[in-house]
Amino acid sequence: MKAVVYKGPREVVVQEVPDPRIEEPADAVVRITTTNICGSDLHMYEGRSAVESGKVLGHENMGIVEEVGPAVRRVKVGDRVSVPFNIACGTCRNCEQGWTSFCLRTNPTEGVDGAAYGYANMGPYDGGQAEYLRVPHADFNLLELPPGGEHENDFTMLSDIFPTGWHGTVLAGMQPGDSVAVFGAGPVGLMAAHSAVLRGASRVFVVDKEPDRLALAERIGATPVDFGAGDPVEQIAELTGGAGTDCGVEAVGYQAHDPSGQEHPELVLDNLVKVVRATGGIGVVGVYVPQDPEAATEQAKQGRIGFDYGTFFTKGQHMGTGQCPVKRYNRQLRDLIIAGRATPSFLVSHELGLEQAPEGYERFDRREDGWTKVLLHPGRAA
Ligand SMILES: NC(=O)c1ccc[n+]([C@@H]2O[C@H](COP(=O)([O-])OP(=O)(O)OC[C@H]3O[C@@H](n4cnc5c(N)ncnc54)[C@H](O)[C@@H]3O)[C@@H](O)[C@H]2O)c1
Ligand SMILES: [Zn+2]
Ligand SMILES: [Zn+2]
Repeated sequence: MKAVVYKGPREVVVQEVPDPRIEEPADAVVRITTTNICGSDLHMYEGRSAVESGKVLGHENMGIVEEVGPAVRRVKVGDRVSVPFNIACGTCRNCEQGWTSFCLRTNPTEGVDGAAYGYANMGPYDGGQAEYLRVPHADFNLLELPPGGEHENDFTMLSDIFPTGWHGTVLAGMQPGDSVAVFGAGPVGLMAAHSAVLRGASRVFVVDKEPDRLALAERIGATPVDFGAGDPVEQIAELTGGAGTDCGVEAVGYQAHDPSGQEHPELVLDNLVKVVRATGGIGVVGVYVPQDPEAATEQAKQGRIGFDYGTFFTKGQHMGTGQCPVKRYNRQLRDLIIAGRATPSFLVSHELGLEQAPEGYERFDRREDGWTKVLLHPGRAA
């Protein structure tokens, strides 16, 4: 089959790889109908991860079940399914408590709990930017979708970014009526803003410097804040009569930068500590890593991020972090889509054939104007 393969920094190619097959009795093989490029893929694309050359990328996958192993009971060939990016066993201590993003069994990497498709340090699993994908523990992991083609571009957000954005607001302890500051208007930040609105936020601010992304934030009822036009903390303070917000979401990650492009991995954390009121919560879903050899400072190379912990403590704030346990939210979010209450497809800018993946990566990575979310449809002509 054809698949998107990582070769080295800023180089992905579409090439023939062996077809995935049933390896364990609980596996399924899914024929991919839609698979998205994620901001998380860009950390690898830019050479800022330990991903090995030859890895098939892609953790935001959906499609049709093509084949099931002999132990699969619930899922049937022909089912339309969303594949959570987490690969979870369903029966370990963390899975049992709903923390499928920290499954104790599925990732053999020393010191890392939780596995994912096509991702650095997340286990030996190929990704789904391909014609087919092998899904372990299929009965546990796969979410069933209504048959047909309806809501394809909404449902494709269920594998990662819609649950992840929602999780950011949950980690922040957001309550109905709260005001929320979301840093980052990439796909994850926009999903966090959409989630905050759905969960009853009184006011949502979204900080970025990309005009197309800020325009989308405004379209879904948030107040855009351009950090290229001045200190975002001061701008939000001004808009809130000096009060700041009740809580905040970090949707940028360790490659946070200033308007000139210079990276400061502590910048967004510092801004959140400043802008969120005393006792408020901060949900960090932007990725930070324990090793980053290309980082700008010695400290950051070792994953040590010197954010303003003193003020964080003094303000009595709290912070939640980590990969999203997609299964905790995807069923409810699917039903909000079916009911017409949620439309996460609003951020889709490009739908490409698999062959065009290299162009999709290049232009999404440059945050080119208008390239807000790229979907790949392996079965469809471009
Ligand atoms: N926790 C999880 O489960 C999970 C899941 C998916 C993605 N992620 C992570 O979430 C982060 C965002 O993903 P994405 O797909 O939206 O990526 P993205 O790179 O497209 O978006 C990041 C946005 O942050 C903006 N930004 C950079 N510096 C900023 C600053 N100082 N202030 C405000 N905005 C700033 C950029 O302009 C960009 O629009 C990434 O780190 C990604 O790895 C985490
Ligand atoms: Zn993703
Ligand atoms: Zn588990």
